[in-house]
Amino acid sequence: MDMLVIRGGQPLRGTVRTSGAKNAALPIMAACLLTDGPVRLSEVPKLADVDSLSQLLRLLGVDVEATGPQELSLRVIDRQHFTAPYDLVRKMRASICVLGPLVARRGRAKVSLPGGCNIGHRPIDLHLRGLEALGAQIRVEGGYVEASARRLRGATISLAGPCGSTVTGTANIMAAAVLASGVTTITSAALEPEIVDLAEFLNGLGAQITGQGTPEIRIEGVAALSGGKYSVIPDRIEAATLMIAAIATRGEVTITNIQPTHLESVIHLLREAGADIEIEQSGEETRVVAAGRRMLRPIEFSATPYPGVPTDLQAQLTALLTAAAGDSTVTDAVFPNRFMHVSELCRMGARIEHRGDGVVIRGRNRLSGASVMASDLRASAALAVAALAAEGQSVIRRVYHLDRGYERLDLKLQSLGGQVERILDSPDSIPGSDPTAFLKAA
Ligand code: EPU
Repeated sequence: MDMLVIRGGQPLRGTVRTSGAKNAALPIMAACLLTDGPVRLSEVPKLADVDSLSQLLRLLGVDVEATGPQELSLRVIDRQHFTAPYDLVRKMRASICVLGPLVARRGRAKVSLPGGCNIGHRPIDLHLRGLEALGAQIRVEGGYVEASARRLRGATISLAGPCGSTVTGTANIMAAAVLASGVTTITSAALEPEIVDLAEFLNGLGAQITGQGTPEIRIEGVAALSGGKYSVIPDRIEAATLMIAAIATRGEVTITNIQPTHLESVIHLLREAGADIEIEQSGEETRVVAAGRRMLRPIEFSATPYPGVPTDLQAQLTALLTAAAGDSTVTDAVFPNRFMHVSELCRMGARIEHRGDGVVIRGRNRLSGASVMASDLRASAALAVAALAAEGQSVIRRVYHLDRGYERLDLKLQSLGGQVERILDSPDSIPGSDPTAFLKAA
């Protein structure tokens, strides 16, 4: 298992390119089950989650091949299989995205229930209700969802949940409805850019989807889809994480392959806190320059569904606000218990208190390096931000969480001057941690 050793205090400077969006690439890959035609995807990030989904798709009879550094070619070669086993689904919840495409194309799916995870209770009731509304028979037994249908038929389905509408639920139902007979209308659909990307991809294969990016998506079922080519949108969460790291270290970083329109609420929030964010247009290319030139002002925000501040940035923003000139308040309306990073940040000297539904971050705090443990993907990014800004050396363990969703963040940070080293996790390998060092020195 790898860990990151980060020596903080170095302002990040330079230019870095964002990879393709994990949360767009995964449902798009799963939707390839809907067609027999070959699909070529570009801007697919090289991530552990992409590897896990490729493995699952291979089990389901899809030939998945890397045809370039960020390119995958996918083609269904065997339609006999319909089971997504627990061992793969537990590694990555996005595996649930195969459920809709499998029922729609193969008439049958058996997918392990993903269960809970470190960011809280994550039910899939809305996915199941949506598929039932499309005419699928659903049974939950032995930890698996079994769904079957001869042919799905269009319906009107609301995907509103207690914490907003569901993102992968919208992806699942939209993908399933593409091959249903008649018209499906999804109300209270998720508005996330990754849903728009999936709809654009499916339309490129011959689907008839309109309204993506609004709360009402209309899908006119078609008999079959063709193959095609598609390029995945840039990862807005990775881009914003890099912006936050630049600001936290009082550096200045230019980010390319970024769509600032996907980050409006985040850019607004960072500016409100006093960070400098410039959007530059040079010919076809948009670049965002993020800099931290002064002490930040404290802010109050709640993570909410798109177009709000994403829950996937709540932890990184919490880390950033430890250095603000006063107390900030943060809540997370999407995953109200997503605060596992708080106790690790406190190990680095942060003063964060749970209050009501969220946390209060006491500002004016210079963090100090410590050994910390990543608990989930975005928590590990928050720890990396904190470690880069902290005084001294930090060791972040369980970096496999980070590798699930960030394409070699360590190398990208290094290219910006960050003192980040990836080493094999063993107490002997931590620079400066050799307990006999004082004897050798003497
Ligand atoms: N919910 C229900 N019932 C459902 C589904 C969801 O009540 O059937 C609730 C959830 O418990 C949560 C809220 O609805 O409170 C939103 O959950 P959603 O279904 O939208 O989350 P998701 O689709 O499982 C995706 C991303 C997450 C991201 C959330 C919210 C992917 C693969 N995952 O998850 O990304 O946090 O949307 O934006 O797209 C990450 O990348 O680190 C990550 C966790």
